Amino acid sequence: MDMIRIGVIGTGSISGMHLNAYRNNPQTVVYAVCDLNEERARVAAAEYGAEKVYTDYRALLADSGVDAVSICTWNNSHAEISIAALKAGKHVLVEKPLCRTLEEAVQVQQAVEESGKILQVGFVRRYDANVQLLQKLAGAGEFGEIYYAKATTLRRLGNPGGWFSDIERSGGGPLIDIGVHVIDLCWYLMGRPKPVSVSANTYRKLGNRANVENLSFYKAADYDAANNTVEDLANALIRFENGASLLVDVSFTLHAKEDGRSVSLYGEKGGFEIDPETVIVSERANTIVNIYPQTDHKGFDFNSAFQNEIDHFTHCVQSGSQPLSPVQDGVAIMRILSGIYESAAKREEVKL
Ligand SMILES: NC(=O)c1ccc[n+]([C@@H]2O[C@H](COP(=O)([O-])OP(=O)(O)OC[C@H]3O[C@@H](n4cnc5c(N)ncnc54)[C@H](O)[C@@H]3O)[C@@H](O)[C@H]2O)c1
Repeated sequence: MDMIRIGVIGTGSISGMHLNAYRNNPQTVVYAVCDLNEERARVAAAEYGAEKVYTDYRALLADSGVDAVSICTWNNSHAEISIAALKAGKHVLVEKPLCRTLEEAVQVQQAVEESGKILQVGFVRRYDANVQLLQKLAGAGEFGEIYYAKATTLRRLGNPGGWFSDIERSGGGPLIDIGVHVIDLCWYLMGRPKPVSVSANTYRKLGNRANVENLSFYKAADYDAANNTVEDLANALIRFENGASLLVDVSFTLHAKEDGRSVSLYGEKGGFEIDPETVIVSERANTIVNIYPQTDHKGFDFNSAFQNEIDHFTHCVQSGSQPLSPVQDGVAIMRILSGIYESAAKREEVKL
């Protein structure tokens, strides 16, 4: 295959990261775009030189000029469009979360297996250079067995509204939107242990706080504060078969002094932090040392991680090799997320 012709489905906020990265990749060309909002699709097509503009993803998938697609739509269509794309013989890069439920995730996995096509889940944080460095060190046994991880992404004010806060279209609130990133990151760096149970809580106490003035925050392309049917806070303790555990809390809004972001993992021989910046904790000559790797970015760098993600997808499509974030991992993360929502609803620990 020479140039890979890309179709981008959903041309809202995050699509720009995909479109830019495809434009920068010498092996890909943005051939088609699609959005329910035709004007939005036309603007993207003009900016990125796409030949074709669609408002129905089925028409884009029927176009034999498309080799591979990026799915950047609301979560409620991820499974449906992924399955249709695989059936149409296209390779798929689908944004996180893979879908809304475990049932949908299993259906997507089945479609991947039947099609033999590539499906990469957009766990963009895995593609950050610092994370790849830490993964290399963890794989080499630098930290020993990682038995505890702790992840926090607390927004004091940051419910994006629109589809994000409509449970039908999103599948959930901060847990499925931002929690998915850090849960996946910890699980991946812990060596993908088998989850066995979760104990969790979700809260809908504060609403979306659209009344708050003088502070700006990220909003969906079609912002609408009227419909808010998702949790505003979730916390969970996830236990793994090997005895390791992961403690996580995430919010869209909370009466917190400031936003809080931290991701830390602890092993028998050493530990490390990823958020807010990369640091390795170790012992040398009976002394605790904090080591700051000298890399281009101290913490997560959105632009380069997206470029790496798209370059990796391109490489997988060309070589037929399996992606770093395959569908099986998307299913495993959906199992954890679904377990968290189930545990919170039942107000008890659930087995996975
Ligand atoms: N990797 C990341 O860090 C990251 C960041 C933000 C969003 N996301 C994910 O990207 C996806 C999109 O988020 P966003 O912030 O761009 O939302 P958005 O609302 O800004 O854009 C979504 C676009 O998809 C279009 N759309 C929805 N359903 C469609 C369909 N069936 N066919 C065609 N177009 C459709 C909408 O009209 C809209 O223009 C979500 O799954 C979200 O979780 C990932």
